Amino acid sequence: MEITVIRPATEAFPEDIDRIQHVGRVYQSFPGSEYVLPSDGPERDRLALQHRLLAGTFENRIMMPEISFEAGDRILDSGCGSGVWLLDAINQVPNAVVLEGIDIESRLFPMDSKLIATRGNMNFSIGTITKLPSEWTATFTLVHQRLLIAALRAEEWGQAIKEMMRVLVPGGWVQLGEAGAWQAGKTTEKHRSLVDKLFVKRGLLLDCSDRIPSMLRAAGFSNVHIDKRPISLGSWAGEVGIEARENFMGVFRGMKSPVLNAGGLGYVNTEEEWESLLDAVEEEWDNTEGAEMSFFIFYAQKPLF
Ligand SMILES: C[S@@+](CC[C@H](N)C(=O)[O-])C[C@H]1O[C@@H](n2cnc3c(N)ncnc32)[C@H](O)[C@@H]1O
Repeated sequence: MEITVIRPATEAFPEDIDRIQHVGRVYQSFPGSEYVLPSDGPERDRLALQHRLLAGTFENRIMMPEISFEAGDRILDSGCGSGVWLLDAINQVPNAVVLEGIDIESRLFPMDSKLIATRGNMNFSIGTITKLPSEWTATFTLVHQRLLIAALRAEEWGQAIKEMMRVLVPGGWVQLGEAGAWQAGKTTEKHRSLVDKLFVKRGLLLDCSDRIPSMLRAAGFSNVHIDKRPISLGSWAGEVGIEARENFMGVFRGMKSPVLNAGGLGYVNTEEEWESLLDAVEEEWDNTEGAEMSFFIFYAQKPLF
């Protein structure tokens, strides 16, 4: 198994990560990106937990469209992070299918070849979904993207979906997984307002799951499917609720630097206040039966003609 990592000749990958570090977390520095989550060891672990959780939520189906893959077919995972989805997908497709992962940040790529399945072709490259390589036009049978809610600005969503359409073969499929709203009680509401403020400040779309179906249709996709599932949050829901709490609290705790660098957005003034707000949210989830987050998988087809 050969893994290829392509690094473009830009200044986008500074080794001097100090300037983007905040209280122990490491963030990406891709030019123009508003992505708010870290790219570091704890985030890699969280993505592994999240993949298990989300796969379990959808009966371990990670590819929704019914596709009969053939030798030479290509699959793209946009915003692949640690490649955890690709590393699962590779075991579900024929040997000669090529898997490509692209991400604005390479720090999470699975560089240890022992982590990779012993067959197939898997490549990782650095780049943005909003501007894919021109030679990729009409080469992918499936484009997968999961959880870029904390990364893409309104106009970037349109560009990304347009790029997905361009790189798909006619009849190919796109699959997008995104989080929806989360709810429990008053503290969670306050926290949600804080996250909303952060997203608005950065031009990100917290309600992207409401908008994706119409964005797909506007880009010319047909057969638009929406599969929405609730994910219970907190210990009241047993092991699954605890795992979900760990994962999503990991997401929110990961927003520490963006929130504190924005002066706390009128909700917190110090790192301690930030931590105690999140502790209170966690406690509310544990003690509120029905606390949940919704998760969506959308999939749609590029018309044959
Ligand atoms: C929350 S992580 C999800 C990772 C992976 N999709 C998964 O589900 O495990 C979001 C990933 O998107 C990447 N990302 C953010 N903006 C991007 C962009 N414009 N193009 C490609 N990747 C991007 C981030 O670097 C990060 O690795």
